[in-house]
Amino acid sequence: MATYDIRIIGDPVLRQQARDVTDIDGALIRMVDDMIDTMYAAPGIGLAAPQIGVQKRLFVWDIGTGPNAMINPEIVESDGEWTFEEGCLSVPGLSWDIVRPKQVHVIGRDLEGNEISFEADEFEARMFQHELDHLAGVLLIERLDADTRKEALATLRDLRIGAEQSESPRDGLRLL
Ligand code: NI
Repeated sequence: MATYDIRIIGDPVLRQQARDVTDIDGALIRMVDDMIDTMYAAPGIGLAAPQIGVQKRLFVWDIGTGPNAMINPEIVESDGEWTFEEGCLSVPGLSWDIVRPKQVHVIGRDLEGNEISFEADEFEARMFQHELDHLAGVLLIERLDADTRKEALATLRDLRIGAEQSESPRDGLRLL
């Protein structure tokens, strides 16, 4: 088992737009395997390539149905509104109630290059939206209203001063 270091907020790689995957080769498949190991070790239930410093549009996830990977994903439809306490492996120790669409239809490719399609609701839909944000260089901080974002950035500065406090998310929070 090989794992990567997970990049943390403040790392510029997390703020860059990732590029489409053009070749699915052995190196990419090994990287995906190691991303899945990294996700389980964290532990998290979703991990996007920029979180390990790779500017490619792909992510891995497991919401309890086994490991999965999606390449070049797109949200083609979204509907409704749902508030959920969201936490991110790249923003350790913090989480916020964030409102996003409740349902999404996501299409992409699997590791064989076949088109895959998911009609997702609630937590699964949230996971997809969070991972697609990572591929666009967007962190959950950007999804907060202006006042909450200001507070969040102040908390992050404080945590950086006493970094050891930032490592324990709320029990039961599933990290993306
Ligand atoms: Ni995340």
